Amino acid sequence: MSEVLTITDSRTNKEYKLDIQDGNIRAKDLRQIKVNEDEFGMMSYDPSFENTASCKSSVTYIDGDQGILRYRGYPIEQLAESSSQLEVSKLLIDGELPSNDELSKWVNDIKEHNSVPNEINDIIGAFPKSAHAMGALTSLEAALSTFYPESKNITDEDENYRSICRLIAQVPILAANFYRHTQGLPIVEPDNSMDYAENFLNMMFKGDDNKMHPDLVSAMDTLLILHADHEQNCSASVMRNVGSSEPDPFSAVSAATAALYGPLHGGANEAVLQMLTEIGSVKNIPNFIEQVKKKEVKLMGFGHRVYKAYDPRAKYLKEAADKVFSVTGTNPLLDIALELEAIALSEDYFKGRNLYPNVDFYSGLIYESMGIPKDMFTVLFTIGRTPGWLAQWKELLADKDQKIARPRQVYTGYDSRDYVGVNNR
Ligand SMILES: CC(C)(COP(=O)(O)OP(=O)(O)OC[C@H]1O[C@@H](n2cnc3c(N)ncnc32)[C@H](O)[C@@H]1OP(=O)(O)O)[C@@H](O)C(=O)NCCC(=O)NCCS
Repeated sequence: MSEVLTITDSRTNKEYKLDIQDGNIRAKDLRQIKVNEDEFGMMSYDPSFENTASCKSSVTYIDGDQGILRYRGYPIEQLAESSSQLEVSKLLIDGELPSNDELSKWVNDIKEHNSVPNEINDIIGAFPKSAHAMGALTSLEAALSTFYPESKNITDEDENYRSICRLIAQVPILAANFYRHTQGLPIVEPDNSMDYAENFLNMMFKGDDNKMHPDLVSAMDTLLILHADHEQNCSASVMRNVGSSEPDPFSAVSAATAALYGPLHGGANEAVLQMLTEIGSVKNIPNFIEQVKKKEVKLMGFGHRVYKAYDPRAKYLKEAADKVFSVTGTNPLLDIALELEAIALSEDYFKGRNLYPNVDFYSGLIYESMGIPKDMFTVLFTIGRTPGWLAQWKELLADKDQKIARPRQVYTGYDSRDYVGVNNR
């Protein structure tokens, strides 16, 4: 039997029956609710989309109350422990764990695109050495689209597959080459004998063996897995919104990267480190917590729109941190972070608002210990998240329910009024 939601409009006493599908109503069904026939009909007002499902998706599942995260049904814990970034990428994008043959083809297809056009390096050379890496990366991803004009043909599945491989292969190259530029160092060519994370670290730090320790490579791979997707977050929604007007995927990834850049989203990892540096010492924490409670500052790396429990990724980040610190020595800011976490988890202000550490709380400390400069932190998040964005994009293209994204508004401005010349205002 079909389920319905019955609504009575107190303005007209009319009763409406809205179909319930998967436990939800379709917002468009509200449009039949109107006082006069010539009205537009009712909408739901939902600033920041706190209660709006913009799509059906089978990519990633989050239960924010229980602290559960699964990619295609597989618990993040199992993937973080047993899988690799490229295997997880394939899982996210195609829906199933690949067989041995499928995985080697996938890895080889990505390696085949493991270089960027020479002109991209000329563009990198034109950025100021002091430029923020995320500003550069956003531009460089968009620039890639100009070298692959065939990527505009998004109805061609082979072309889309090539674009997906190119983006997964080349975003790390853009990142590493930009980093080398800022350091005044020559570019290191990708090495196809290496795995994904190892190749990235090699392109960044070749010659510095301390930074290429196998435990650091393995921690980097885990970090990439933990960041790979998180359902309809701000940047994934941007990927889908921009993707819905059907540009090439390089442009859409560039837009998603810009969304990730903000300190309330991926930029939080950099902001956490900034915050810990400013706090400076454990003895300053009580004063800082008071400022947070007065809402003068935010405790960066805490809180989440969806998680109202401990972020399941944070546990693995702590483990990755232990692995990294056992190679690099502990990060002096770790004591501040641990104490901040302990205090925050015991105080009513945070408990009452379900504020727990999120993925960004520990990642910055790990990156810093690995010798990665602060403004590259969100770049690493971008490398990790690119496969997730592409999985969301691929799903969008196949979804017959989806059209160009175009929210409505509740207009609160003037009625029509006449223009007044500047001398009469
Ligand atoms: C992630 C975030 C943007 C989610 O925001 P949101 O879902 O809109 O949550 P709200 O802003 O409605 O927060 C609810 C309450 O908790 C408080 N709060 C949320 N995050 C907080 C934080 N990091 N520090 C202090 N207070 C915080 C808000 O002030 C609000 O308090 P109120 O009810 O008294 O007004 C927000 O928690 C945040 O800014 N965190 C810091 C940045 C960060 O780490 N981002 C990375 C996310 S992975």
